[in-house]
Amino acid sequence: MTSFRTLDDLGEAGGKRALVRVDFNVPMADGAVSDDTRLRAAIPTIAELSDKGAIVLLLAHFGRPKGAADPSLSLAQLTQPLSHLVGRPVTFVPDCVGEDASAMIDQLSAGDIAILENTRFHAGETRNDAALADGMAALGDFYVNDAFSAAHRAHVTTEGLAHHLPAYAGRAMQAELDALETALGNPEHPVAAVVGGAKVSTKLAVLEHLVTKVDHLIIGGGMANTFLAARGVDVGKSLCEHDLADTAGRILEAADAADCTVHLPYDVVVAKEFTANPPIRTVNVHEVASDEMILDIGPSAVEALADVLKTCRTLVWNGPLGAFETPPFDTATVALAQTAAALTREGSLVSVAGGGDTVAALNHAGVADDFSFISTAGGAFLEWMEGKELPGVKALERTG
Ligand code: 3PG
Repeated sequence: MTSFRTLDDLGEAGGKRALVRVDFNVPMADGAVSDDTRLRAAIPTIAELSDKGAIVLLLAHFGRPKGAADPSLSLAQLTQPLSHLVGRPVTFVPDCVGEDASAMIDQLSAGDIAILENTRFHAGETRNDAALADGMAALGDFYVNDAFSAAHRAHVTTEGLAHHLPAYAGRAMQAELDALETALGNPEHPVAAVVGGAKVSTKLAVLEHLVTKVDHLIIGGGMANTFLAARGVDVGKSLCEHDLADTAGRILEAADAADCTVHLPYDVVVAKEFTANPPIRTVNVHEVASDEMILDIGPSAVEALADVLKTCRTLVWNGPLGAFETPPFDTATVALAQTAAALTREGSLVSVAGGGDTVAALNHAGVADDFSFISTAGGAFLEWMEGKELPGVKALERTG
């Protein structure tokens, strides 16, 4: 049994006011939502509660307004896009606490859906202020958290409210928690982790935690250069955090001690300039010239990594293997992602991925739908990969 109350535990919800924390922190371009993944992720919970006759009151932050109203960060602009996706009218309530908001909510009927204004317009939100939590809790009968991607924040709407009202995980939260448990909490071994991205410094804690959890750690992206340099490889003018050589060395030792095999590329794609489609060479890592930089891992390394994945039952993926936004340095990421997708389709691999760049890279590879689960979270996914307890998740745990 899951250790969280879910909507299955809700009982009769007809006419009750549901305060539902969602993550509507979506990218915008020219006043329109440019990626509605997070809106779509919340639809099952919103529709289910509305169908059950609850009055659905959506709480969300948008941007970082620092405790003051900022019209450019109003959630009013998401009312239409959400209404379109859920296929029902959505009301906008211009505050998330107080008498005016309460009076407007009193006018709503069973099954109605409303978005309350950006919770971060109140300074107390990010301070997890008890008085603000009291005021918000007065607007609802129960609380649902469907925002895993904001669960690393101990704010009123992500953590505090769970202590004031009966609290439940929404469907998107439930799916995230189940997938993450399958991938790292209690996975089928062998487990592989792909960790890529530009810098070791942003993922130190992730790497330190993973070496104790996984059987194969595949390091790609700029951070692989730091590890190669730590092993004495001359990486030319590649992105490399030379000052972290000792740290990288320590991580390699910890991996050895934990029986975790670390995979670094032994062939790489190099160029003298970082632009789209420059002249490139594919070389052994020991043959990088002093005026060249490593921008992707090479085909032999990709083939070897594909063989590793074929032996694994579980894969966790965070970060691209090369500079995937600039062709042709997307080649390795696309190839390995396609292998992971094929193994998942065959049923031999459970594949879970998360983090901003990762989702973009898997979409680019055309395989996002083939992975077992793709998290909508950025920072929260990383903190989870670091083995940290997320306050928003902790607050939902069943106590009895
Ligand atoms: C995100 O976009 O990752 C979440 O919504 C959290 O936003 P924050 O980093 O501003 O807390």
